[in-house]
Amino acid sequence: MAKVIGGVGTSHVPAIGAAVDGGKTQEPYWKPVFDGMQAARDWIARTKPDVCIVVYNDHASCFSLALTPTFALGVAERYQPHDEGYGPRPVPVVQGAPELSWHLAESLILDEFDITVVSEMTVDHGLTVPLSVLFGQPTSWPCQVIPLCVNVIQYPPPTGRRCLKLGQAIRKAIEAYPADVRVAVIGTGGLSHQLQGERAGLINAEFDNAWLDDFVAAPEQVAQKDHLELLREAGSEGLECVMWLVMRGALQAEVDVVHRFYHVPASNTAYGLLVLEDVAPPLHTTT
Ligand code: DHB
Ligand code: FE
Repeated sequence: MAKVIGGVGTSHVPAIGAAVDGGKTQEPYWKPVFDGMQAARDWIARTKPDVCIVVYNDHASCFSLALTPTFALGVAERYQPHDEGYGPRPVPVVQGAPELSWHLAESLILDEFDITVVSEMTVDHGLTVPLSVLFGQPTSWPCQVIPLCVNVIQYPPPTGRRCLKLGQAIRKAIEAYPADVRVAVIGTGGLSHQLQGERAGLINAEFDNAWLDDFVAAPEQVAQKDHLELLREAGSEGLECVMWLVMRGALQAEVDVVHRFYHVPASNTAYGLLVLEDVAPPLHTTT
C-alpha cells in the first residue's frame, strides 16, 4: 500500500530559485539560507520519496483572474516551468504521477472536496523553488510530482481549517492506494511577507516562530486563525502559510521535528523550513 513518509514546509521565494540558477548559493547573503536547508536535502536524499505532492499557489502565471480554482489538482504526465516574465527557470520539466493523481481526485471528490481537475498546466516558482530547495540542481527531478494549487491570490482563499481537513483526506486517499508508493507532502509559501501597499516589506519574526511552534504541536489551533489575523500579523502574502496546513493534515497528530530552520530576510520574505515525520509507532512489547 502507498504511505506518507513525511512532510516538508518551505517558503517559495523566487530569489532563492534565482540564487540556485545563477550559482549564487555560496555568496554571503545566501550562504546562511542554503546552509540551513542542508538537513532537509539530507532527509529527502535519505528517504527518497517516489512522489512529492507539492501544495503551492500559482502567482497569476498559469491561472489568470479569469479563472480562480480554490483547489486545483494536476493529473498530467508532465508540467512545464512557466515563463514568469524573464523566461522560464532553467530547471527540468516536472514529471507527474497521473495514476495517483486520478486516484486522489476520485477519493477527494467522493470525500466531498470539490477539487478542480487540471489536465494541462504550467508551474511557476511556487512549485519549482521548493524542488530546488530540496534537490538543488539535478538534470532531472528525482521524484514524480503532483501539483496541488491553492488559491491564496484572490479573495476569498480557503480557510486554514479547510486546508487541514484536505490534508487529512489526502492521507486517507494515499493509504487506500494499492501500489507501494512512498509519498512526501510539501507545503509551500509564507512565512510572513507583504509585497504590496503601505506595509510592503513587513516581516514578523515573533509571529512566525510562534506559528511554527503551534503548527507542530497544535495544528488545530493554528488552523483557527482567520484571514484577517493572518493578513494583519503575517502580511498579505504571508497568508500563503495556510498551504502548509495541507501538509500538516496529511501527518499524524503527533510528529517528530526532523529539521527546523528560520531566517530573516530572504528577499522580502521570512524564510521558514520544517521537515516532519509521524512519531514512530510504539514498539510491540510482550510483557
Ligand atoms: C517573494 C516571495 C513570494 O512568496 C513570492 O511568491 C514572490 C516574491 C519575495 O520575497 O520577493
Ligand atoms: Fe508566493
